[in-house]
Amino acid sequence: MKVLVVGSGGREHALAWKLSQSSLVDKVYVAPGNAGTQLDAENVPISELDFPKLIDFAKTQRIDLTVVGPEGPLSRGIVDAFEENGLRIFGPNAKSAQLEASKIFCKKTLTKALAPTARYQVFQGAEEAYDYIRSSDEGRFVVKADGLAAGKGVIVCHNKLEAEDAVRVICEERAFGSAGDRFIIEECLDGQEASVLAITDGHTIMTLQPAQDHKAAYDGDKGPNTGGMGAYCPASLVDSRKLQWIEENVLLPTVYTLNRMETPFKGVLYAGLMMTPTGPQVLEYNARFGDPECQPLLSRLRSDLFTVMQATVDEELDKLEPLDWDPRPAVCVVMASEGYPGSYAKGHEIFGLDEVAKTPDVKVFHAGTTIDASGVVRTNGGRVLDVVALGDTVAQAKAKAYEAVKKISWNGSWYRTDVADKEINANR
Ligand code: AMP
Ligand code: GLY
Repeated sequence: MKVLVVGSGGREHALAWKLSQSSLVDKVYVAPGNAGTQLDAENVPISELDFPKLIDFAKTQRIDLTVVGPEGPLSRGIVDAFEENGLRIFGPNAKSAQLEASKIFCKKTLTKALAPTARYQVFQGAEEAYDYIRSSDEGRFVVKADGLAAGKGVIVCHNKLEAEDAVRVICEERAFGSAGDRFIIEECLDGQEASVLAITDGHTIMTLQPAQDHKAAYDGDKGPNTGGMGAYCPASLVDSRKLQWIEENVLLPTVYTLNRMETPFKGVLYAGLMMTPTGPQVLEYNARFGDPECQPLLSRLRSDLFTVMQATVDEELDKLEPLDWDPRPAVCVVMASEGYPGSYAKGHEIFGLDEVAKTPDVKVFHAGTTIDASGVVRTNGGRVLDVVALGDTVAQAKAKAYEAVKKISWNGSWYRTDVADKEINANR
């Protein structure tokens, strides 16, 4: 079988790596991929948004299954376009990908599903939002642009002035363009965050083991938000009892509600949760694997991912055995470019990759890398590498990951030094 993975980050490298291990898969292509995907698969120089060229490639190469990594192509209808051409593809169609692409659609779905989520109100204009904030009894607010805003459309505000400022940024400065045409203001929740992902064919769900992301740039969760500076799996803050509760009260009702709304969802349903003192609350849904959560998750998954994805497309997940996991925890440390999540330079030579490639139980997934004409791997993004290690304990996995990280460098490389510490300290 031939597989095409669409995307170019660490998540797509992990997907290509895992799919290429399937005994059913002969060949994996990645479009457009990066320097790392070129090692585990074959890159195809087609942008993730160039649907006509991707479809043409899938037809001429007789691709059996296309797997989409990022939200951009999903929300713009890559699944619809492939299906219209009779091609098999894993992921939600544009209508159901609104679960991620529209915060308002997401909140409406959660409300209909009776799933726990912060109280919210929808706004279109600045004035009514200012009035709402000024007359509210709340002291803190979260202001969210409705549409996709490259992970930056959520502003957590600690007082009314900050909330008014957030409304100004969205409505008057139009910082997120049309993604901010409508926005929501919601109650601010406290707790630790967890990512619970499930693969669903629209009827059956296969819940993956819980993971935790590290969204803040710097140690101690300080600094600006990023796409994620590290992750580990499993996250014991979601124990098996809580995971079952989340399945029954969040994931299954969501799948059922989406069916009732005539937007059946197939693909990865990713719940971003706040574990509050009164129980889990859904902060958001994503319609795809998390990046970097995907990297430690797939590093631990023993089941054949290709079979699971095929069964999802065929709506036959109920026929599969439960997922099989490596019992060892996995820790993923993201190495980033100087300046990220702000502006950063590209093109720095990366040193140390060959040495780390020989380390057992360590895998380096590439995120923002490229390979030049002379074969030198260079930085090509803000998040550059995802170093994943498995260990008998989380502390051992962390130590192994950082041992590898310290062997890799480029001009201006940096990383958080406390990935998985919350897990390690909680279980001391
Ligand atoms: P989202 O894209 O909705 O997950 O929001 C991004 C980040 O904003 C989350 O990971 C949380 O850290 C934070 N956030 C979102 N909604 C809330 C909320 N209601 N209360 C507190 N923090 C939130
Ligand atoms: N790791 C957060 C995300 O993928 O959205």
